[in-house]
Amino acid sequence: MTGKRILLIVSGGIAAFKALELIRLLRRQNYAVTCLLTANGARFVTPLSLQALSESKVYTDLFSLTDESEMGHIQLSRSADLVVVAPATADILAKMAAGLADDLASTVLLATDKPVLVAPAMNVRMWLHPATLANMAMLAGRGVSVVGPVEGAMACNEFGFGRLVEPPVILAAIERLLVPNAQPLAGRHALVTSGPTHEPIDPVRYIANRSSGQQGHAIASALAALGARVTLVRGPVGIPDPVGVTVRAVETAREMLDACRTALPADVAVFAAAVADWHVENRSAGKIKKLAGAAPPGLTLVPNPDILATIAAPGPDRPRLVVGFAAETDDLMANAQAKLRRKNADWIVANDVSPATGIMGGPDNAVHIVSAAGVESWPRLAKGDVGRRLADRIAEALGR
Ligand code: CTP
Repeated sequence: MTGKRILLIVSGGIAAFKALELIRLLRRQNYAVTCLLTANGARFVTPLSLQALSESKVYTDLFSLTDESEMGHIQLSRSADLVVVAPATADILAKMAAGLADDLASTVLLATDKPVLVAPAMNVRMWLHPATLANMAMLAGRGVSVVGPVEGAMACNEFGFGRLVEPPVILAAIERLLVPNAQPLAGRHALVTSGPTHEPIDPVRYIANRSSGQQGHAIASALAALGARVTLVRGPVGIPDPVGVTVRAVETAREMLDACRTALPADVAVFAAAVADWHVENRSAGKIKKLAGAAPPGLTLVPNPDILATIAAPGPDRPRLVVGFAAETDDLMANAQAKLRRKNADWIVANDVSPATGIMGGPDNAVHIVSAAGVESWPRLAKGDVGRRLADRIAEALGR
């Protein structure tokens, strides 16, 4: 019996129906659930279905006046151990960030002194809008926990970030917040690199690679969810920064190394970035022009520093646990084993990035954890799940 009480605020949007499944999962774990349905939420799910599943009275704006005498909004906001907003629309997140209180849900959110978890769901353009990103950063700064959104197809026929995470993932986030010791990395500092690097040829051209940053960003989020203070050093990516982590945006490998050095000391470092192996030595200060009849310009490439090998080298600042990646198209295991030794890493997360796997830039990953203890192969999982599993393993290793 958990005996814990959840106040579930269901706001509008096509994903509101998933709140029903969430209530079912919560009830199965013996959470007491009280639902608060916004006016827009009520266009997608009925108070009656929430009431039937939660086995408890549902609060809506319609009844709030009569309910004031029975249970005021202040009491409602404090009667739970955790307030969960799922789905959380761009609108309710903006109201929370601005401190507005013009309906029952926003009033309760402003009045509560309990931890709050939001599960955003909206169109990808709305999620990526600077206003929403600024609101999310503000909420994270105030200690609001966030789960999702994830990438996927949307009801509006678009594809991208903005889908509500599945109810079991929301349940896991709730449990991490409510179950004691669910934050095993509290007090630890984690350094994560993510994304590609860009190595300039001239002011308008650069050498890059296909890394999307999804895997590194997912690892940073998962480590933060377990309570770690996370510094994410990331190259240029097209995905939003994870909330609740400190982001250092860099462009080149040399900048990435500098930012990593500055971030030390760290208890754990995970090098998920696809760092360019070379930079252009004869980089041009002006745009290189093509001249009629002249041969194409020659580029002289010189090696970049190996960030993983530099940080993993023995010394007082070496993080206790150093995790590297091996992205390979051939001889995966042999190359991963060689990288483990050559770079002095404790673990190598090996993945096959041959085009046929769809892993580079895709939503899934199939990895093998290579260490001195042997090889552990994980099934093909969503990159978010790989991140969570890896964070759990890191917590386990650091806890020893
Ligand atoms: N890495 C790094 N700095 C570099 C190159 C790689 O920190 N200059 C890290 C990556 O973040 C990853 C690991 O080293 O954790 C292995 O990267 P990978 O690209 O697979 O290997 P490389 O060392 O670049 O070797 P190769 O390109 O020959 O496979």
